[in-house]
Order: sequence, then structure tokens, then C-alpha cells
Amino acid sequence: MTGAERLRERTETAEAAVRKYLPPAEGFQKTVLDAMDYSVNAGGKRLRPVMMMESYRMFGGRGEEIEPFMAAIEMIHTSSLIHDDLPCMDNDTLRRGKPTAWVKYGYDMAVLAGDGLMIYAFETAAKALALGADPARVARCMGILAEKTGIYGMIGGQTVDVELTDQPIPEDKLDFIYRLKTGALLEASFMIGAVLAGAGEKEVKTVEEIASLVGLAFQIQDDILDVTSSAEVLGKPVLSDEKNHKTTYVTLKGLEKAREDGKEISRRAVELLRSLGGDHAFLEELITMLTDRKN
Ligand code: IPE
Ligand code: IPE
Ligand code: MG
Ligand code: MG
Ligand code: MG
Repeated sequence: MTGAERLRERTETAEAAVRKYLPPAEGFQKTVLDAMDYSVNAGGKRLRPVMMMESYRMFGGRGEEIEPFMAAIEMIHTSSLIHDDLPCMDNDTLRRGKPTAWVKYGYDMAVLAGDGLMIYAFETAAKALALGADPARVARCMGILAEKTGIYGMIGGQTVDVELTDQPIPEDKLDFIYRLKTGALLEASFMIGAVLAGAGEKEVKTVEEIASLVGLAFQIQDDILDVTSSAEVLGKPVLSDEKNHKTTYVTLKGLEKAREDGKEISRRAVELLRSLGGDHAFLEELITMLTDRKN
């Protein structure tokens, strides 16, 4: 199987887990459930659940208790996108090739759908217990999920990102923003896979570091695509960063250096991955493929 075929197969598995745990859109609160469903099912690469499952497998995990956590991380990621697109944030109108949640359902419902997904993610993750997962591991994973989503994770990163709009940002601060706004949910993905599979502390720390590097490279490529791609290919508007007067890795370092650094950071992630046991051939391939991704 080629890397692309393997990725397709894994993405389908992740897709199935996400769909299995999405709540039915019914009841008096149907509107918000429709908006949640719309945003999750609009598409997306499902990279976070794919990476979580790979990390789980790499450490010998074979059960289905990983599935609620796979669905949960994609719900949280989608909630971050819904909020990121709001008029008060990046003010974007296209996401995953469709009108953004606020354009389709209104500002009020988009805020609630983001909140709804973020918290339903935890309701979903808790279902791992009913699948026979070790309670101590599930509790630890819920803690990781919360920390990496919240003020010490994605929300913390988004805060600094939004606050520093229109201002020059030194490299160390940009690094902080990227590690939090984008890296943190990837860290959660890798760490939860490892913890649920029973990896040791040192290994969990190593996958956290790997994911942080992957997140940094991923956001650099996102910045590159914002200036080099098209809305048709990306499924979201291009030149969004320029519109919002953002300092990005590209405005700071230029396109060529951004490309170089993205590849170098990914190489460092792969190197660290090789220091771990288990079968990590696909993860290695995926991390490398992401530096040339087109969307
Ligand atoms: C977009 O993430 C937001 C960033 C963290 C750069 P993805 O590029 O993974 O978006 P989807 O899930 O495929 O839509
Ligand atoms: C946001 O970064 C990352 C999130 C936490 C959603 P961007 O604002 O660059 O993400 P896109 O380009 O809109 O997907
Ligand atoms: Mg943003
Ligand atoms: Mg944005
Ligand atoms: Mg972007």
C-alpha cells in the first residue's frame, strides 16, 4: 500500500468513529445540533483522530476504547474552527468548502454550536469507560484533553493570536502561539493514544514533543497555503491572514525560509519518532507528507 492509500484507509476509520458518536439532530435544541452536525460533516482531513489512533497502535493498543476519544478530539478541533471563523475572530465565510457555521446558522447558533461540540466531546470521551477502558487511564486522558483544549492549550494560543492582531510579533511569541493554538490539540492526540495504550511516562513525554513539532510545522504550512493556494483547493478563504493584519511565519521569515523551516522541524519530529519502539512507519510517512500538503 502507498502512503496515500494508507492515509485514505485510516481516514475512513476515523470518519466512522466521528460519525458513530455525533449526537442525533432532534429535540427542541435541534438547531444547535444541526449546526454541530453541519460543521463536523462538512469534511476535514481528520488528522487528529488519525494520529491518535496511530499513536495508540504504536504502543500496542488494540481495543475500541480509543474511538470515543478520536471522535472527541475531532469535535473539539471543529469547535475551534467554528469559533475561529466568527466575525469577532478571523471573520471568514468559507470552511471545509462550505459557508462557515455563522454564515449558515447565524452568529448566535455558531457560538452555541462551538460550545456544544466542545463540551459534548467530554461527554463522548467518558464513554470509553463503558467500553471497558482502564478508569485511571480514562481519567488521565480526560485531563489531557481538557488541558490541551483550554487556557494552557488551544484557547490560550487563540487568545494571544487574536490579541496581537495588527502588531509585530517576535519569533519566540509566534512560536508560543503556534505551539498552543495548533500544537496543543495534536499533543493531546498523540498523548491520549499513548496513555490509553499503556505507554510509560517517558514515552508520553516524547510523543508530546513530537506532536508539538508536528503542530509547529503544520501551522507554518497553513500560513504558506494562506498565501499560495486557492479557496477551491483549500476549502477556506486565502489571504485571510493578510486581511486580518496577522504576523505569520511567512510575513516574519519569507516564503522560502518558511518552507525550509517547516521541513526541518518535521525532520526533527521524525527523528524523535525513530527513538521510540513500535511500528511508526505510517506516522513517519504522514509527518513527512504534511510538509507538502496542498490543503
Ligand atoms: C485547520 O486545521 C486549523 C489549523 C490548526 C491550521 P486542519 O487543516 O486540520 O483543518 P481540517 O480539519 O482539515 O478542516
Ligand atoms: C487557527 O489558526 C487555529 C485554530 C485553533 C482554529 P488559523 O486561523 O490560521 O486557522 P485557519 O487558517 O482559519 O484554518
Ligand atoms: Mg485564527
Ligand atoms: Mg482562521
Ligand atoms: Mg490559517
